[in-house]
Amino acid sequence: MTRRRILVTSALPYANGAIHLGHLVEYIQTDIWARFQKMAGHEVHYVCADDTHGTPIMLRAEAEGITPRQLIERVWHEHKRDFDGFHIAFDNYYSTDSPENRAFCEDIYARLKAAGLIAIRSVEQFYDPVKQMFLPDRYVRGECPKCCAKDQYGDACEVCGATYAPTELGNPYSVVSGARPERRASEHHFFRLSDARCEAFLRKFTQAESRLQPEAANKMKEWLGEPGEQRLADWDISRDPPYFGFAIPGTDGKKFFYVWLDAPVGYFGSFAEYAAKRKAAGAPLDEEAFLRPGHDTELVHFIGKDILYFHALFWPAMLEHAGYRTPSKIFAHGFLTVNGEKMSKSRGTFITAESYLRLGLNPEWLRYYYAAKLGPTMEDIDLNFDDFVAKVNSDLVGKYVNIASRAARFIAKTFGGELAYVGDTQPLVQDALECARLAAEAYEAREYGRVVREAMRVADRINEQFDRAQPWNLAKDASRRVPLQDACSRALFGFKLLSVLLAPALPRLTQRVARELFGLGRDFAWSDAGELPRRIGPYSHLITRLEAAQAGALIEANRESLQPAPPPSQQRHAEHQQHVAQGAAVSQDETISIDEFAKIDLRVARIADAQQVEGADKLVKLTLDIGTETRTVFAGIKSAYAPESLRGRYTVMVANLAPRKMRFGVSEGMVLAASGEGPGIFLIAPDAGAQPGMRVK
Ligand code: 2FM
Ligand code: ZN
Repeated sequence: MTRRRILVTSALPYANGAIHLGHLVEYIQTDIWARFQKMAGHEVHYVCADDTHGTPIMLRAEAEGITPRQLIERVWHEHKRDFDGFHIAFDNYYSTDSPENRAFCEDIYARLKAAGLIAIRSVEQFYDPVKQMFLPDRYVRGECPKCCAKDQYGDACEVCGATYAPTELGNPYSVVSGARPERRASEHHFFRLSDARCEAFLRKFTQAESRLQPEAANKMKEWLGEPGEQRLADWDISRDPPYFGFAIPGTDGKKFFYVWLDAPVGYFGSFAEYAAKRKAAGAPLDEEAFLRPGHDTELVHFIGKDILYFHALFWPAMLEHAGYRTPSKIFAHGFLTVNGEKMSKSRGTFITAESYLRLGLNPEWLRYYYAAKLGPTMEDIDLNFDDFVAKVNSDLVGKYVNIASRAARFIAKTFGGELAYVGDTQPLVQDALECARLAAEAYEAREYGRVVREAMRVADRINEQFDRAQPWNLAKDASRRVPLQDACSRALFGFKLLSVLLAPALPRLTQRVARELFGLGRDFAWSDAGELPRRIGPYSHLITRLEAAQAGALIEANRESLQPAPPPSQQRHAEHQQHVAQGAAVSQDETISIDEFAKIDLRVARIADAQQVEGADKLVKLTLDIGTETRTVFAGIKSAYAPESLRGRYTVMVANLAPRKMRFGVSEGMVLAASGEGPGIFLIAPDAGAQPGMRVK
């Protein structure tokens, strides 16, 4: 076997939010792959770090009244605690706000500049005159230039789906201060991705055999277009102060690297810190071989499908033209849904890693479940609670661990821990080796679901054979000791094989199996799969069942624990997709007359029905009974209310608002709700006794 040398990474989580079960899909997926490669005897370094720079982190720290460095320091410990809790075995977990990362960024920038791949151009953007900062697209809101829907983000309308520049919004306001933004020009630094050298490189890079998944390679083809089409635009890599990040050399602190430039470089920053630690510990590694081209090392990135663009275009093009090595493989996975729906705070399915551990749920239950669901594609995976409970209890406890608990008892009681096999064990060993070979192929290809299915098929077979031997009857008859010992030994050999196969997914449990039950004095290696055990130590309980009530408690705990400054959506998102949800400031100096107010026809309405709107992130479709008629209203309250909780409630609606055609149908009015600087939307309700159709004045 040639010993591969692999540097493995997972995407760096933002340092302003808690790790949740959506994040864990990726970390568990990567951890399983890295553990498998290590078990197979390869040299693997799995590194990660917190992604610490950018506007959202700067503003979050400000809102908490602390410095960004204080914030990222605290969050680093929270993230590390959660990763440790789920047995994510990084070889190094660092921060992008590090001297190593700064040095790499400066070096890459200098080399790109020397290669003529940095351009400086003036860019006009919205500027918040109160906050005195340029506003990323998601920090500007206003009316959609197409359908006039109010309160839309600066880059896309959630009502009609239009995309546009923030400068096209009607009545724009800054979500940071509420002020009306001004247009201002400033110089920006660009990485010249449109340069013919980048395009030529990326065409080859993205289409190389099995570097990307087939669907990702196709997407890249689409993005690159036909040769000569010049689809790639230059990439804006600078931001103006105030900005939490690294200053661009030679700009006197007037320009900073955009967070998405320094984030992937953080993979190298973490690796460099790790290499330094290894050197100090007297176990140096060949750092250059992992960072420079021309070596037989591999660089493997695991990422979410939402950040493919950054990893398959910008990052490799930058590395290639700055004289660094480029990624060998980029594996993208899908998002997590919970019970078939997007994770949601109001439904309690936005589940933090911390709450899962705090409530005493076993992290290996989730690792096993994700492994059973994970495949090599970018398809979303669903955490279905009924299925979760069933799989853990029937597979993990009922099939796998059950083998050991049944067979080990007889061996301990009757044979003093000694195993013995009758007849030819060669076929048994051959079968096991073939099984391990297939599982190894599946792990390599990230088809963990296939490994789990195969393992459960083997577990079924072992349990059937054990039952057929009827050990409980054999045990009653002293003359049948030999077949009893043989049946139990074969079952325990099968259990050992399964433990090796499942070890990447169940590291803690199988560590105990290796050390306590089989007395190996070390963790399992892949080559243990074909070794017949000769004796066992005492068996002690390995895993408990998952009770449905525990899963329910998880949902309840997360329904209550709404965070003051939640991350914007269920998945990790690029900075430009982040926002701080704050209402516009109330203007003190504008008044209206009573007549103007009287023009608004406010009515008490009973919510006769409330439905989800397919494809809309924020909307709920309401059927409102206002006494004499019913109205359909699309209300942007989905983040705060599950539709079923709304049915039968009373609220207040604007009944004379001009009907508005939306992508999902016509909205015939508007319901009133309050919102403030913190999270939450609060529907207005009349006092008891009010009847549908009553006028509010
Ligand atoms: O999308 C995200 O959550 C980013 N923090 C991922 C960065 S990955 C890498 F580029 F650093
Ligand atoms: Zn619109």
